[in-house]
Amino acid sequence: MLQKELERRKVPKIAFPADESGRRERREEIKTVLCRELYGFAPDFPLTDESVILRKEENAFGGKAVACEIDVRVRSPFNYASFRAQLVVPKGIKKVPMFLCYTFTPAIADGCGEELIDNGYAIASLYYEGVAPDKPDDHLLGAGRFCRRNPYDSWGKIAIWAWAGSRLLDYILARNQTEAVIDEQRIAVVGHSRLGKTALFAGAMDERYSMVISNDSGAGGIALYRGKRGERLTNLAGKGSRLWFCGNMLNWVDREEELPYDANYLAALIAPRHLYVASATEDDWADPQSEFLSCVAASEAWESYGLTGLVSPDRYPEPNEAFHDGCIGYHLRKGTHYMGRDDWHRFMEYRARHNV
Ligand code: GCU
Repeated sequence: MLQKELERRKVPKIAFPADESGRRERREEIKTVLCRELYGFAPDFPLTDESVILRKEENAFGGKAVACEIDVRVRSPFNYASFRAQLVVPKGIKKVPMFLCYTFTPAIADGCGEELIDNGYAIASLYYEGVAPDKPDDHLLGAGRFCRRNPYDSWGKIAIWAWAGSRLLDYILARNQTEAVIDEQRIAVVGHSRLGKTALFAGAMDERYSMVISNDSGAGGIALYRGKRGERLTNLAGKGSRLWFCGNMLNWVDREEELPYDANYLAALIAPRHLYVASATEDDWADPQSEFLSCVAASEAWESYGLTGLVSPDRYPEPNEAFHDGCIGYHLRKGTHYMGRDDWHRFMEYRARHNV
């Protein structure tokens, strides 16, 4: 039934060849299409990392964790930018798995920090507007200033925020070489809504993330464009979100059926690592069915590696159902557009089960 629906929507195949060099080539093609037509290219130049720890709290969360405030400082031959992030590591655990979490507020994991610490996870918390403001400033502010904007394919805000996550990771991993606190094989990037789109793009471009979590990311994230209900490209092209993408995105408004990609392409770049997608029953704007179907369509990528993508019955999920068997995890939470404790617990359940 689900395959029929993909055929009806004419979702393009990912078509990864079975051999690794062929797959690498196809992955590069897909990256180029996605950057050129939707997210924009990040600038490519040598960078110097001059990040520093501004403040260290030895007894965060009642003594359960050590928290550092990091000022991520990046210099290129042409420019300089800095933004704040927080790294919180639970005490008494060797090689801690980590969440790199994009947040809407400066609060650690948008207020869910203690829950994650108590479950044995470190958190790198990155407040997105501290990186580049979410307003039409022509990408001159914050990290946006690294690249002159063109009307076609220069990076949009999602690519800027994603890039910043990778710079934070550079610093954490460099420091980890001496301190070895974080388990480098278990780093998940996570975000909700526009930050779910960001987490997906970040994870697609940066293979150091072992798992990528999209919560209610909808259009411009995990939801298929073809046949999608709720938000469509024409809405994303509106004032509030147009600058999340590159200029070429506008060429495809109301032409979703002709897109040279679909959201399953973005998901495919995460293979053979783990992808987790969360939807909510009342999130019609994001369209849970199109988010779920995208996982079905992306599974082909994992299969080319001899792995399983989404493992689920041949039907749409029931409210509160979760599918955790495959390399793509999924749950449909009952309720509205939101990322809360129920979602976090599912993510952690999946991580523990797959040791990822
Ligand atoms: C708007 C937008 C969505 C986005 C959401 C959010 O609803 O249309 O694409 O995901 O904001 O980030 O909260």
